[in-house]
Amino acid sequence: MRSHYCGNINSSDIGSDIEISGWVHKRRDHGGVIFLDIRDLHGIVQVVFNPDLKEIFEIADSCRSEYVVNINGKVRKRIEGAINPKMSTGEIEIEATSLTIFSSAVTPQFPLDDYQDVNEDIRLKYRFLDLRRPDVNQRLVQRSKITSEIRSILEKHNFHEIETPILTKATPEGARDYIVPSRVHPGEFFALPQSPQLFKQLLMIGGLDRYYQIAKCFRDEDLRADRQPEFTQVDIEASFISNEDIFEIAEDLVTTLLSKFTDYKKTSVPRITYAESIEKYGCDKPDLRIPLQLKDISELVKDEEFKVFSGPANDPLSRVVALKVPEGASMTRKTIDQYTDYVGTLGAKGLAYIKVVELDSDNGLQSPILKFFKKETVESILNSLDVKNNDIIFFGAGSAKIVNLSMSSLIKKLGEDLNLISSTWAPCWIVDFPMFERNKDNNLTSLHHPFTLPAVTVDKLKNDPENALACAYDFVLNGYELGGGSLRVYEKSMQKEIFEILGISNEEANDKFGFLLSALSSGCPPHGGIAFGLDRIIMLLSDTTNIRDVIAFPKTQSASCLLTEAPSVVSDDQLDELNISSTLKTD
Ligand code: AMO
Ligand code: AMP
Repeated sequence: MRSHYCGNINSSDIGSDIEISGWVHKRRDHGGVIFLDIRDLHGIVQVVFNPDLKEIFEIADSCRSEYVVNINGKVRKRIEGAINPKMSTGEIEIEATSLTIFSSAVTPQFPLDDYQDVNEDIRLKYRFLDLRRPDVNQRLVQRSKITSEIRSILEKHNFHEIETPILTKATPEGARDYIVPSRVHPGEFFALPQSPQLFKQLLMIGGLDRYYQIAKCFRDEDLRADRQPEFTQVDIEASFISNEDIFEIAEDLVTTLLSKFTDYKKTSVPRITYAESIEKYGCDKPDLRIPLQLKDISELVKDEEFKVFSGPANDPLSRVVALKVPEGASMTRKTIDQYTDYVGTLGAKGLAYIKVVELDSDNGLQSPILKFFKKETVESILNSLDVKNNDIIFFGAGSAKIVNLSMSSLIKKLGEDLNLISSTWAPCWIVDFPMFERNKDNNLTSLHHPFTLPAVTVDKLKNDPENALACAYDFVLNGYELGGGSLRVYEKSMQKEIFEILGISNEEANDKFGFLLSALSSGCPPHGGIAFGLDRIIMLLSDTTNIRDVIAFPKTQSASCLLTEAPSVVSDDQLDELNISSTLKTD
């Protein structure tokens, strides 16, 4: 049905007879001549219909936007003055000799012939139209190219692509499970995988040596711009492998993609310990493009009268930090108030500041908190930060959790607002994660997942779990967690100890992970791996911050599909068959 794609026809085709198929992008009537711009995935070409060919002229006249057509014709040079240098096909046009309408179309719900910002909900509801927009479909084409490159890089490293089940048992990755009722086992449920974690470990125990999968994962969790309930991982696992081997393979994967699809020049990726990252950036996914860091000043203010600072400075679960913003002293009161409100939305009780107008002058500092401090303390704070005239220093004090969240978010906000983002690509590894953290009920939970190998012996882990580090790492790019992985526990006794620390009884461990424990006692190689968020990789390589832009049929922030209206109610018959009744009151 075609000899050429529309967007690929150019002056080298002048004089050729060609056949194209596509959508009517625009129809114009010019003094008795009809022009149809025809669009396909590769671009747009102009077709001319002369009234001399009465029959096809009439068909052209009946064409409307988004009709699907097939055209035969001859390529000719456009007349002077009609050349459009903005179009790849702008030097030529097609003189039509035949026109067939494959299908007509209602007026589109939003225009495609003229780029307009359209509400995302409308775009998602009519995604089949939205996909016709070049910016949308080209990202999916890019996704396909990147995925294919990923496969070839991993295959070069001797990995085999192996599929793992979607209907399975819960895999703990920190989110809620999507569950699927079983009809043949009344009252029993499958869980959709939060990741293929346990299966990839079982593949290693099964001797498959090097596995990868472009794997669909499902997590029922709070959604954000970089999170979807259904997303794709580049999931990797290998046997007889060290941390360093995994770093090398993973780094090769990401830096090859970056250098192939962007202007990134390959260099080695820096490593930052988790502790250092929290200390300096307040988070474990710093955006190293922004040249701002936190400085812990708890020691300097712990003996001050000002309780807002000295209180947290003396509490081991709290901290006081300073954030120097070079050249920030010209910030207005209104702007500072806006930043104060911003950190307030993240739980901070305030945002103290000092403007350094002129260091050597008596009144050279402007701040609502100076009066609360001894002169020497202020001096030691300024010295520790190496401040210059025109800098501003912000302060955060309170529980470490809130200070870290609010001040790391402030760094990212200031980075954008003040255009401080210095280079395009700043990858880093975060290493030496702790094994566990305390949740809001003060119980220990895994920072990664319970199958992560500790960097200490079983005895040390047992005696001081809170201070045990893990052989775990995250790959961070421009402030996004792109991937995470670890070496895995490969001894049953260690795995049982971890379950015990997590408060998982023997009975529960056997019930949930009996198959893993049994496999661990059947000859398990040391192994480890990593998983990258494919959607996030594509998002960053496509220069967007919205994960939905790189997924063909994404879900909304409230985890629904506007196109198919899923999730939806099912019939009572279907529920009966599954032995399920809903307790939801509809009235
Ligand atoms: P983790 O939970 O860190 O590790 O997930 C790995 C990567 O998957 C991406 N990701 C997501 N992307 C979009 N939407 C989501 N809801 C979402 N959740 C996670 C992130 C993240 O870095 N089994 C382990 C990996 C391992 O240990 O090998 C795991 O799943 O980019
Ligand atoms: P207050 O005495 O509460 O009026 O606070 C004096 C200054 O300290 C104001 O600039 C507040 O924004 C700031 N401030 C109050 N609480 C905190 C906090 N937890 N962290 C940082 N600054 C704070």
